[in-house]
Amino acid sequence: MSTVVKKLVEEDAEVVREVATASWNFTYKGIYDYEYIEQWLRDHYSIGGIKKDIRRSLNDEGLLFLGVFVDSLCVGFIECKFSHGEADLLRLYLRPDKMGQGYGKALLLDAENFLVKHSIKKCILEVNRKNTRAISFYKNFGFRITGINGDDYSMVKEYQTC
Ligand SMILES: CC(C)(COP(=O)(O)OP(=O)(O)OC[C@H]1O[C@@H](n2cnc3c(N)ncnc32)[C@H](O)[C@@H]1OP(=O)(O)O)[C@@H](O)C(=O)NCCC(=O)NCCS
Repeated sequence: MSTVVKKLVEEDAEVVREVATASWNFTYKGIYDYEYIEQWLRDHYSIGGIKKDIRRSLNDEGLLFLGVFVDSLCVGFIECKFSHGEADLLRLYLRPDKMGQGYGKALLLDAENFLVKHSIKKCILEVNRKNTRAISFYKNFGFRITGINGDDYSMVKEYQTC
């Protein structure tokens, strides 16, 4: 079995939407209602919108959009925005049947490597306070909770760059 983390290309837009749909329905069932999830996916995972972000990532325009592929199948993705030494982890989603097998770690480590090379000193994110799996995962990687923003925790991690 071969596992590769790489920048997504426009042809991956459909599979990103498929992974997001499965991951959102699995993760947020019982946290958000069905209509909210459907609406979010429609608004934030249009094929045009995903392709636009992929192009920005490929052109290194302040966005990093990576996928993790197992035997050529995309099983998850991470998206970070970055500027002026600071990054924002916008999205990190895996297929439900691929969680807990190291793919989230592979994506986060690759993204962090990239960010540190781009002189990023700090990464922030927002995570739903009921999303205990993700909160534990982020804490495991050195993120700490810095505040509450509505239903979310704000988390931050600082990097040593020279
Ligand atoms: C959160 C998510 C990205 C984590 O990825 P994953 O592949 O399941 O996690 P991994 O298998 O890579 O785990 C990496 C490390 O975190 C630890 N970890 C993962 N889940 C954990 C949990 N629930 N509790 C404690 N530790 C956990 C693992 O033990 C592992 O530690 P190690 O490196 O010391 O062995 C993934 O589960 C996911 O897609 N969840 C649904 C979507 C989501 O909630 N995204 C975040 C939105 S803000």
